[in-house]
Amino acid sequence: MLRVEGLTKAFVTGEGKVEAVRRVTFEIKTGEFFSLLGPSGCGKTTTLRCIAGLEAPDAGEIWIDETPVFSSKKGLMVAVHQREIGMVFQSYAVWPHMSVAQNVAYPLVHGRRRLPRRETMKRVKDILHLVQLDELEKRPASLLSGGQQQRVAVARALVAEPKLLLLDEPLSNLDAKLRVEMRQELRDLFERLKLTALYVTHDQEEALVLSHRIAVMDGGQIVQLGPPMEIYKEPANLFVAGFVGTTNLLQGRVLRSSRPGEPGLVDTPLGNLTCPVPQPMDEGQRVSVMFRPGAVTIHTDSCGPLSNLFSGTVKSAVFTGNRVEYEIEAGEFRIRVERSPYIDEIHKGQSVWVEMPADRIRVLPA
Ligand SMILES: Nc1ncnc2c1ncn2[C@@H]1O[C@H](COP(=O)(O)OP(=O)(O)O)[C@@H](O)[C@H]1O
Ligand SMILES: [Mg+2]
Repeated sequence: MLRVEGLTKAFVTGEGKVEAVRRVTFEIKTGEFFSLLGPSGCGKTTTLRCIAGLEAPDAGEIWIDETPVFSSKKGLMVAVHQREIGMVFQSYAVWPHMSVAQNVAYPLVHGRRRLPRRETMKRVKDILHLVQLDELEKRPASLLSGGQQQRVAVARALVAEPKLLLLDEPLSNLDAKLRVEMRQELRDLFERLKLTALYVTHDQEEALVLSHRIAVMDGGQIVQLGPPMEIYKEPANLFVAGFVGTTNLLQGRVLRSSRPGEPGLVDTPLGNLTCPVPQPMDEGQRVSVMFRPGAVTIHTDSCGPLSNLFSGTVKSAVFTGNRVEYEIEAGEFRIRVERSPYIDEIHKGQSVWVEMPADRIRVLPA
């Protein structure tokens, strides 16, 4: 549905050249919800604006639904309104002097696909129903709450039935509770309508919840691309490990590389850890060892496995509602642990055994 190849865009500013997007390549399938995730300034908005046609890339190629819309080689740049995309911005860009219905009707009244009045009104009604704004049709947009404005922006983006929807941090202006509600609503809406979306966010949880696949960006480049669970469990590097979810991180040295049927061994401040050591890491190499707080198993006696079991003391226990978060001191290291509140409680000061299952440990280049 969308194909982006070698997309590159730099800005020349007073302080010099900023390489905002560097050789970005990805593909989105029809019906897929695809997110660009990364910290502020990593090039997400610029990528989106290039796809929309609001920014002229320096190099690369873009296809929407098999139709080339940009090619630096061929000198091709299709105009914004000819790309058949819908857009939702962080600022909503809802016109305050117009009613809800007028805002939503705008693309059908002024856009490329003008429709007869009767059909326009029907479409607007249908789409307002879809985003649960039926009652507010006549209300001036200036009298809407943040969440309602956001719905208007989504409705307006959908009304012309675009092939592709581009959304740039559409929830970031909402308060935390509403953000979670709207996130769920968007998810349901997109699933129901089987829409194809490119979603931009710096919020890892949002990306994990909404996306079929995520591209994590850092410094203008895609550093990892995959389904949410893969990004979380198998981060490609330390940046992704730290940016997506919380993690335990140890510095280590490879004692033995993995061989067929035999796991590797890494020396860490906790002791020796049995775990997969991916190729091409060599014996003696310095590495980082990561495991998630939820990957750990706690034992209250020492009858656990023979490897990857370390004794420690519970330093803190915090109940957050859905889980209990512990800090467990093992030697010099504090291990972060998360558990369900429904398994046997452990208490501050208690001596415990911490087990790290080998297949939940990830060894990354230091
Ligand atoms: N119009 C512009 N002029 C100069 N620099 C820009 C412009 N737009 C973006 N940048 C720079 O490009 C980089 C990427 O920006 P952006 O794509 O907005 O990142 P993100 O959306 O991930 O926060 C940043 O360093 C930003 O300052
Ligand atoms: Mg941005």
